Amino acid sequence: MAGKSFKYVIIGGGVSAGYAAREFCKQGVKPGELAIISKEAVAPYERPALSKAYLFPEGTARLPGFHVCVGSGGERLLPEWYKEKGIELILSTEIVKADLAAKTLVSAAGEIFKYHILIIATGSTVIKLTDFGVQGADAKNILYLREIDDADKLVEAIKEKKNGKAVIVGGGYIGLELSAALRINNIDVTMVYPEPWCMPRLFTAGIAAFYEGYYANKGVKIVKGTVAVGFNADSNGEVKEVKLKDGRVLEADIVVVGVGGRPLTTLFKGQVEEEKGGIKTDAFFKTSISDVYAVGDVATFPLKLYNDIRRVEHVDHARKSAEQAVKVCSFLAFVVSSSSNPSEFNLSRSASVNGAFISYFTILLEISTWRVFRDILAAIKSNEEGKTIDVYDYLPFFYSRSFDLSWQFYGDNVGDAVLFGDNDPASPKPKFGSYWIKDGKVVGVFLEGGTPDENKAIAKVARVQPPVENLDVLTKEARKAVSKG
Ligand code: FDA
Ligand code: NAD
Repeated sequence: MAGKSFKYVIIGGGVSAGYAAREFCKQGVKPGELAIISKEAVAPYERPALSKAYLFPEGTARLPGFHVCVGSGGERLLPEWYKEKGIELILSTEIVKADLAAKTLVSAAGEIFKYHILIIATGSTVIKLTDFGVQGADAKNILYLREIDDADKLVEAIKEKKNGKAVIVGGGYIGLELSAALRINNIDVTMVYPEPWCMPRLFTAGIAAFYEGYYANKGVKIVKGTVAVGFNADSNGEVKEVKLKDGRVLEADIVVVGVGGRPLTTLFKGQVEEEKGGIKTDAFFKTSISDVYAVGDVATFPLKLYNDIRRVEHVDHARKSAEQAVKVCSFLAFVVSSSSNPSEFNLSRSASVNGAFISYFTILLEISTWRVFRDILAAIKSNEEGKTIDVYDYLPFFYSRSFDLSWQFYGDNVGDAVLFGDNDPASPKPKFGSYWIKDGKVVGVFLEGGTPDENKAIAKVARVQPPVENLDVLTKEARKAVSKG
């Protein structure tokens, strides 16, 4: 079977793919060696913009303004950049079949792509109400948000239903960010979610009370403790009403649904080990199949800090996991190409990798398999320039922005939570946060309204995990720190 062949293929053209491409260039990928295959029609971009400035009536963000890697303060990778570097961007191309044993991918149009090394970066898809057979959930203007095409549909609906009514189904990230974005567009917004408070997977009742109060002050109505069980449409098939389980009926010209995401692993089912809903990887993002890596939303990886295995659906991890995987696979590809007899590879030799002079200790390893050997190599730290490929030692980092608000969270939200600061939703400049304490140590910190320095400080606390002898003292100290800031 003919087809295009590449040394490296990234399947998926989102955040991870963009950051991976930049790292491949740093590692000296040669023209023609790398292809990115994406279902989307545009080069990798910073997905978080879609639920924020993309929907604003003023100061609107549009491509090419938010292509990666601007989100992390890096150079913006325009489509021309990929051309200059000889990276093939294969857009508007959905892969519908992956054969990991044959190292072959097949697109919906029947094109065949062969690879030597594959990076799976397919991200997540939205969970739809039609998946549960919710009555009338296929009506027009019941919208979701994952990709730029979805965002364009939302922009159209906002224009068309000017000053209309929207019901937001879901009280998580999409629910909170989209309620704010629609309200800023002067739409009458009602949020509906089943839990007793918004964003329960991260927020405590105390944190949520602030956001619910703030949103209410901005005119967002909140209906808790119930779900949407059906929709009525008009003769054009456009949604008009949302029926709730508690019997209430809400008017709606637009419905936005944010009831969670699902990692896109279907293509690889039965071919690769999975765990916690994602593709299981080691700390180098290698999967159970040789030469196949998984990064971003789809990867279930060892979280060293908590001695746990996790999947993380946030942009910071998408960026960092991609960079880690590329460092590792570039390094291993170099090792393979420079070793004729891998089982006797002599690490004492010096080699020039991408201009960096690397010299390794002399070790002749007695090992059973080439794969184990490569793992050990990848874990080797150090060389004369101090380059390292350490295991991934990730500190979870989540953030969100809506209205004039901006919060950051680092660490783990387990144990006892201690709220501090001014969390009055009517405050002109609210600033508050929460610590999570487990086994006598601070393991997580949340801060609303922090300055860049304060955000750096909370990241440090979550990483260092200082011991807490007395919760009252900690609460007092935290209050003092915030009032000084
Ligand atoms: P990502 O979803 O970015 O990319 C996957 C790509 O793969 C897509 O281009 C998709 O089309 C493509 N693909 C999938 N299957 C394919 C196939 N079979 N063939 C070809 N291509 C295929 N996080 C955060 O920390 N802060 C924030 O503010 C936000 N905000 C935010 C807003 C919105 C609207 C969303 C949807 C998500 C966020 N996130 C976020 C989450 C963050 O964006 C997310 O974790 C990363 O984008 C994940 O990066 P990935 O590269 O794993 O997937
Ligand atoms: P989520 O998991 O954050 O929230 C889902 C919410 O859906 C739950 O909190 C619950 O309130 C609600 N829910 C569940 N079933 C429901 C039902 N039947 N009816 C009404 N409500 C129901 O998921 P999301 O907000 O849809 O976000 C999707 C993905 O996008 C996630 O991966 C998320 O991390 C990502 N995202 C992240 C950010 C950010 O990090 N700032 C922003 C937007 C999106």
